[in-house]
Amino acid sequence: MQNTGPALTGFRIVLGVTGSIAAYKAVSLLRRLRQESAHVNVVMTAGACRFVTPLTFEVLSGAHVATDLFEAHQEMLHLSLPEQADAILIAPATANCLAKAALGLADDLLSTMLLTTQCPVIFAPAMDGDMWRHPTVAEHVETLRRRGAIIVAPDEGPLASGRVGQGRLAEEHLILEALQSAVSPRRDWAGRRLLISAGPTQEPIDPVRFISNRSSGKMGYALAEAARKRGAEVLLVSGPTALQPPAGVEVLSVETAEEMGKAIQSRLAWSHAVIMAAAVADFRPVRPSTQKLKKQQGPIATLPLEPTEDILRELSKRRTTQLLVGFAAETEDLLAHAQEKLHAKGVDLLIANDVTAAGSGFGSDTNRVILLDRTGRTEALPLLSKRDVADRILAHMLTLQPMPGAPEKSSRTQRPREE
Ligand code: CTP
Repeated sequence: MQNTGPALTGFRIVLGVTGSIAAYKAVSLLRRLRQESAHVNVVMTAGACRFVTPLTFEVLSGAHVATDLFEAHQEMLHLSLPEQADAILIAPATANCLAKAALGLADDLLSTMLLTTQCPVIFAPAMDGDMWRHPTVAEHVETLRRRGAIIVAPDEGPLASGRVGQGRLAEEHLILEALQSAVSPRRDWAGRRLLISAGPTQEPIDPVRFISNRSSGKMGYALAEAARKRGAEVLLVSGPTALQPPAGVEVLSVETAEEMGKAIQSRLAWSHAVIMAAAVADFRPVRPSTQKLKKQQGPIATLPLEPTEDILRELSKRRTTQLLVGFAAETEDLLAHAQEKLHAKGVDLLIANDVTAAGSGFGSDTNRVILLDRTGRTEALPLLSKRDVADRILAHMLTLQPMPGAPEKSSRTQRPREE
């Protein structure tokens, strides 16, 4: 695909429009896409046609607007349109559209196309705030995201209902940026090797019990997926999680802080950068029992714990050229504690995370973080999906380039095997 001139020159985009009041904004979006020299085929649902006429889109796109799965047309549109498309952009996407896509329902042209397409699919939802927050909608969004769809989350502000909330179709430039990066993903991490830790560690008390924490691993996995997509070679050292390894990412599973420390230290020399997203246990039982502790033994008055190695601190002593990124999971005085950790841990970038804030922290699919770097820059991000947070972290890391004395960009170097 030649992509010279405007950002979308030569790209074929299917613009799906569904029945939200924001359907009128799709008209302006279509004009922008045409200005960017994209070839656009508009597909409208019956609901969308109640808000805006197909003729409007037909005139502006210069192409037939498809509205019906059973249209008397020579070609099978549900197959031919997605086959030729570089991306499908659904804006606005209603809750109904998200639900049908998540469940694989195919009762109209647009939803059927989603089952036949191989190209990137971008949803820009728009609906009332209560609907967007509804757990069913959230689950469908998460399902779609997990399957690789790109969700451009709605904005907060006044809604058609007269209320204020999160549900407005995202700003046009954000939708266009998502589309552009979907059709020509940035490869700005190409040639770099990234070591990422994720998830909790488990410190055994006996063969069946352990001390652990609430980390789900989602942030670290999102980072691994985002970095891979941006061209990095990624090794993910993961504590126990319920997550699927991202495509193209090598995963090394560990359980304890000690195992995680060894795995990471032994690969430090291989890497250009290390992100410690894992929630490493700070303490472990001093003498784990080799046999299961029996109830009949009576109460356990004390369980002596000893500190684990601080992996990040150790990395900062041993690193030569690698960029180091840490997380600060805090429950109070976020900025003060984060500043302290930035220096105490000797990292280049610290991601401060109030794990008790709504929509942030363990288990959540979203996160609100503040980035603090060694140059004194502070970047407070809004509430974003963990995947979007990952992209922002990776972009910020590149601004800290050149990594201190970074090795030559190359992917030829052999990764040292585990010690
Ligand atoms: N970390 C680490 N090794 C440990 C503990 C934490 O490498 N034994 C890393 C984490 O992966 C994270 C950073 O250090 O990137 C900060 O972790 P956090 O739990 O926020 O802080 P702690 O150092 O554990 O300090 P405290 O629990 O007192 O806040």
